[in-house]
Amino acid sequence: MNQADLIWMNGELVAWEDAKIHVLTHALHYGTGVFEGIRAYETPRGTAIFRHHDHIDRLFNSASMYYMDVPYTKAQVREATHDLIARNGLRSCYIRPVVYRGAGPMGLYPLDCPVEMFIAVWEWGAYLGEEGKQRGVRAKVSSWRRIGPDALIPAAKANGQYLNSVLAKIEASKGGYEEAILLDQRGTVCEGTGENLFVVKNGVITTPGFTSSILGGINRLSAIQIARDLGYEVVEREISRGELYMADEIFMTGTAAELTPLREVDDHAVGTGEPGPVTRAVQTAFEDALHGRSDRYADWLDVVPLPAPAP
Ligand SMILES: Cc1ncc(COP(=O)(O)O)c(C=O)c1O
Repeated sequence: MNQADLIWMNGELVAWEDAKIHVLTHALHYGTGVFEGIRAYETPRGTAIFRHHDHIDRLFNSASMYYMDVPYTKAQVREATHDLIARNGLRSCYIRPVVYRGAGPMGLYPLDCPVEMFIAVWEWGAYLGEEGKQRGVRAKVSSWRRIGPDALIPAAKANGQYLNSVLAKIEASKGGYEEAILLDQRGTVCEGTGENLFVVKNGVITTPGFTSSILGGINRLSAIQIARDLGYEVVEREISRGELYMADEIFMTGTAAELTPLREVDDHAVGTGEPGPVTRAVQTAFEDALHGRSDRYADWLDVVPLPAPAP
């Protein structure tokens, strides 16, 4: 992770080291914030944000589910992000907008605390490693279950909810694995700590749906569309743990991890132990879409306007 020069905070650009919040920020105490993880890539058309509108929509939906009115319009958020990337001089980056309850009356009732927002950007390589994207990573089914819909809102990308992913990630990492797979409350497969999951068996791709408590990943949607466009059958349904061990191929998608194959689950090799042909085909088309090499998915890219030349 490389530090950038500027962070956008409540409508203003401030130096990275000056982007500070008060210790009584409500979100710091109770997790009352929502966020996004977005990436911008260097493409032949310039720096472009992948599915920016979809990420902004999900940010606003997450905020609304926690009774927060984002104090900016979607157009303002988009423009602020463009400006921030341009002013930091970044050609590619990770983008992290956070909308949160700021300092106000303490206690669990949050609605009298102000809603604030910042956007940070930084250069960030492949989250599960470039080698992981090529060779696949090792995953372990977590002893921690994914948060259930009767306690929280799995479809919302809310800060406090991520304590669940944090516990699973620590457990997997301490056990020597790169990623955890969380089961849902019923014991069926849900997703990774920050990725959705796909299983390939006999050429058919399956992935859990919202009733399995997933976060509706934007890259999940992209992978589904790309796979269908390539002619594969994609089925959304519940997946049992045993199906992970019998899979020909498994891969995960997420903004940070992009499309990363799994080569082992619970110390069982997935298929041959190397990323298979279906994973490779979807991954190649997906990478082409991310990097603007595909006309078919050109609409998914929000090109960052170049800053006006100095007078
Ligand atoms: C819990 C969880 N599931 C899935 C995903 C994948 O979502 P996306 O593809 O929109 O990045 C993420 C990442 O945002 C996540 O945090």
